[in-house]
Amino acid sequence: MDVKMKLWITIGLFFIFGLCNATLNLRVKRSIDLSATHPLIPDARLPKDVVPTNYDLNLAFDLGEEQKITAVMDMNLTFNEKADQISFHADRSLELDDRKITLLQYVNKTDGVILEKMPFRRADYMPKKNVFVIYLKDDYPKGTLSSLQIKYETYLWQGSEGLFKGNYQNDGQTYEYYATYMRPHNARKLFPCFDEPGFKVPFTVSISHPKNYVALFNTPVINSEDKENFVIDHFEKTPPMSSFTFGLILTQLQKYNYGNSEDSAITPINFWATKSEKPESEALIKETYKKTVAIIEFLQNYFSAKLPLSKLDLVGVPNFSPMRPADNWGLLIFKESELFKKTYYGLAQELAYQWLGSWVTPFWWSDAHINKALASFLASYTVIELDNGKEFNGKYPMTVLYSLYYEFSKRYPHSRITGMKQETTSFKTELVIRMLNYTLGSQTFKVGIRSFLANNHYGTFFGDDLWNHLTKQAHKDNMLDKKFIVADIANSWITKDRLPVVKITRNYKDKTAKVEQKVYLRERPHDVPEQDKMLWWVPLVIIREDSLDFSNSTPYVWMEKQREIQISNLPEEDKFIIANPEEIGPFPVNYDERNWELLSNYLQKEEGRSSIPTYTRAKLLHDAWNLAYAGDLSFATAFDMTMFMKYERNHIVWNPIFTFIDHIGRHIDMSKVYKKFETYVRVLLTPLYEELGEAKENEENWKNDLRSLSKTFLCRAGYKPCIEEAQKDFKVWMDSTDPDEGVPISNECICPVFKWGTMEEWEFGLQRVINFRKANVQSSRTYLLKTLAGCPVQHEKVERLLNITILDENGNFTENDIFLIFNMLSGGSSGYTSLFNFLSTNWVTIRQKFQNKTNLWDSLISSATGVFTTQEGYDMVRKLYDERKGEFGSAEHIIKKSLTNIKEEAKWSDENLPIIEKWLDKFLTTVNQEDTKFMG
Ligand SMILES: *[C@@H]1O[C@H](CO)[C@@H](O)[C@H](O)[C@H]1NC(C)=O
Ligand SMILES: *[C@@H]1O[C@H](CO)[C@@H](O)[C@H](O)[C@H]1NC(C)=O
Ligand SMILES: *[C@@H]1O[C@H](CO)[C@@H](O)[C@H](O)[C@H]1NC(C)=O
Ligand SMILES: *[C@@H]1O[C@H](CO)[C@@H](O)[C@H](O)[C@H]1NC(C)=O
Ligand SMILES: *[C@@H]1O[C@H](CO)[C@@H](O)[C@H](O)[C@H]1NC(C)=O
Ligand SMILES: *[C@@H]1O[C@H](CO)[C@@H](O)[C@H](O)[C@H]1NC(C)=O
Repeated sequence: MDVKMKLWITIGLFFIFGLCNATLNLRVKRSIDLSATHPLIPDARLPKDVVPTNYDLNLAFDLGEEQKITAVMDMNLTFNEKADQISFHADRSLELDDRKITLLQYVNKTDGVILEKMPFRRADYMPKKNVFVIYLKDDYPKGTLSSLQIKYETYLWQGSEGLFKGNYQNDGQTYEYYATYMRPHNARKLFPCFDEPGFKVPFTVSISHPKNYVALFNTPVINSEDKENFVIDHFEKTPPMSSFTFGLILTQLQKYNYGNSEDSAITPINFWATKSEKPESEALIKETYKKTVAIIEFLQNYFSAKLPLSKLDLVGVPNFSPMRPADNWGLLIFKESELFKKTYYGLAQELAYQWLGSWVTPFWWSDAHINKALASFLASYTVIELDNGKEFNGKYPMTVLYSLYYEFSKRYPHSRITGMKQETTSFKTELVIRMLNYTLGSQTFKVGIRSFLANNHYGTFFGDDLWNHLTKQAHKDNMLDKKFIVADIANSWITKDRLPVVKITRNYKDKTAKVEQKVYLRERPHDVPEQDKMLWWVPLVIIREDSLDFSNSTPYVWMEKQREIQISNLPEEDKFIIANPEEIGPFPVNYDERNWELLSNYLQKEEGRSSIPTYTRAKLLHDAWNLAYAGDLSFATAFDMTMFMKYERNHIVWNPIFTFIDHIGRHIDMSKVYKKFETYVRVLLTPLYEELGEAKENEENWKNDLRSLSKTFLCRAGYKPCIEEAQKDFKVWMDSTDPDEGVPISNECICPVFKWGTMEEWEFGLQRVINFRKANVQSSRTYLLKTLAGCPVQHEKVERLLNITILDENGNFTENDIFLIFNMLSGGSSGYTSLFNFLSTNWVTIRQKFQNKTNLWDSLISSATGVFTTQEGYDMVRKLYDERKGEFGSAEHIIKKSLTNIKEEAKWSDENLPIIEKWLDKFLTTVNQEDTKFMG
């Protein structure tokens, strides 16, 4: 699953409604992601005393029975220091030994330079490491030059690392290909080398291969020797490059060249794809070619630097097996379906790595996340410029930003899904880069990037190098106070897994305001340790009603890691201010009640709404709700901020609403206020949904997304037309002759039926899980099970499910299924209340059954007790705890934690529910509630 998708799932959104795919424009994970798995790829770092100056590699492919490669590696080495040994990377499978190596020294004689033997004591692998060491007989002084030759044989790798083999079908025939994937340190699997990004030297390569294959390498062929059964291709010497950007492929794909040549303004480009007679395939290749040219032109102009390559090959291999494209320098290898897509982003990102990554390289993997973030930012920039951001549905960077807001404001960020931390860190860095583009100005930013790049051509950089170039340029252009440096600003954001929230309290009388920052925490309790020590460099870009100007994104002032500052010269008391418009910095902003009120009133006026840009309208709404959710703002204010939604038709502003409904809904769904909240949701969504009308052909994506979202939520709130439609579809399944053949209806129909439909319909679903055929897609069973547990509000359905899976121990359900059921039940109050009751009633039996299944027991206790949010809930759990004292076993700490949490949540409910109810009561008197379209 895509990580960004996981991000969305963790924010709890509608996933049982199966809409994720439809609504989110997910970005594909790119190749450098792997290398951003910092802090450190566990690897033995090589000493820097003896370093290579070039590689000369000959590979001879024997593709017969043995599939063997005979190789000769020649490298020149320079002694930077006095040294008595030489270490480099070589996979143990290369089986190097002292007989395979020849070590010579260049010696100056009066009649010229000669080569002399360089004696060594022994040569061997370091124990358990893929590092080979030559122990010299003597010390050799700094300045020594030597030549190392290694002759060895190697084989293909299984999987898709190093050199591997793959195949694909085309026109009924099977074709094989041989390709490399060297990231992050697989080059050593094919040849001995200094396999760290910091060692950048030229490669001179020749490849001998059967005639029916074309060999592609980082550089073009300069001459070929035609032998009887094979050819030897000699390739142009590469520019200095890191071993991980080495790439080759032997292929039988067809070349497509659209005539841009060496004297063209951009690097010549070739495409490689399967032969096809179909004109539409050819058209798609041509279209991709045009897009590639446009992207390269954009990036080249942005960087003000043409790639120092004499060609660029873009290869689309059907079934290319690595997860990600291989973005070798000058030779990009994609899955065919990924290369020839209609979108820009993925292509732009891979192409950006030709500059950032290949030409200019992070010194070590720990610096790679900055590289990745910059490349992603520029790829997004490219999409926005070339495609008007259509590909992002106008949502860049909101999708990412919102998920970061949710993740970083948890008590324990990244605790649920491991492996996501790198991704979120990298997204955050991208947003910091975006913030710098705005606050330093795009021109200064661009010139800074250019000088960063120009200074590091063919070289390597550390994270701070980028910031230093930006600082220099910003000082020069007077875009940043000379006392400030960008590294301080950037690092204050990058080094923390937290984001700040800024609170502005205006003093209307003297037109000043107090501005405070603190750690943004959303989930209670807010008892995060060390939070007082966390401070950021926060840019305060301020928009004021008396001189509305959204074009200037220069900060009014920077909070220099100060907890609190005063600002002055603010507008009159009847004029609002907005800080951090367009989400320039990744942080929410709170105001005093009065400023919120001014904003809410303004947004309800047509001319007001139209003078505030989309992202800012979305931000005001999003911030207000999340601050209320966090307990930092009155819900009455947050609800007031939704009043303008009656008129709002922009999907970007609408999108966060669905998340709120979901979040708040879950939180209050056990209280009597919930019914009123559902009515509010209907009143809010019905006009939107009805205005969107029926789906039309060729309409914009966002319309469709917005329609299905509003429908889903209306359906959840009991919108009859939707439920009837779902039941009708479901009946088709129930009436089918072989209902276990597969799921014949769309996922969207299932949840409403399980929620609002009959016991019989639900039972039918349960039987489908029980009778599920192994040959069918497993994910559809999982989906059914999730919805069976997660959707119903009827106690009976949940009890039946638990009876069958736990009491009856029906063998059709695995332990994983039971985990999943617990997990789903914790998503709503009817679910976890039923689970709690089931646990209380059957305590003795369950305790006995789970005696040896600690994980299941813990998960059960956690799901059954952890999510209550009221005093009644607290009393129930407390009663169970007291009655069963000493019987909780491994889950003792879990139930204790539940009790603490519920207490906290109950406090929240006590404080907020009356406010919510009061607001809803007032609101509902203004609308007609006799809506026959809804379930009782
Ligand atoms: C190694 O260095 C020598 C001396 O500088 C040079 O003549 C030779 O071409 C180099 N070898 C390669 C493979 O470039
Ligand atoms: C040989 O002498 C030349 C000229 O003094 C010098 O540049 C070069 O580095 C020397 N080479 C070696 C291998 O010592
Ligand atoms: C960079 O900043 C400028 C304003 O200085 C803005 O117009 C542009 O959209 C920004 N680029 C991105 C990709 O955010
Ligand atoms: C679950 O099992 C209990 C005990 O066997 C039984 O009393 C109850 O009716 C069952 N509930 C359902 C919905 O089947
Ligand atoms: C699956 O469920 C059916 C019906 O409840 C039952 O007859 C069968 O024994 C179960 N299969 C296993 C492996 O327990
Ligand atoms: C749990 O494990 C113990 C010791 O291995 C065993 O005696 C007992 O029968 C097991 N209980 C269950 C319910 O499997």
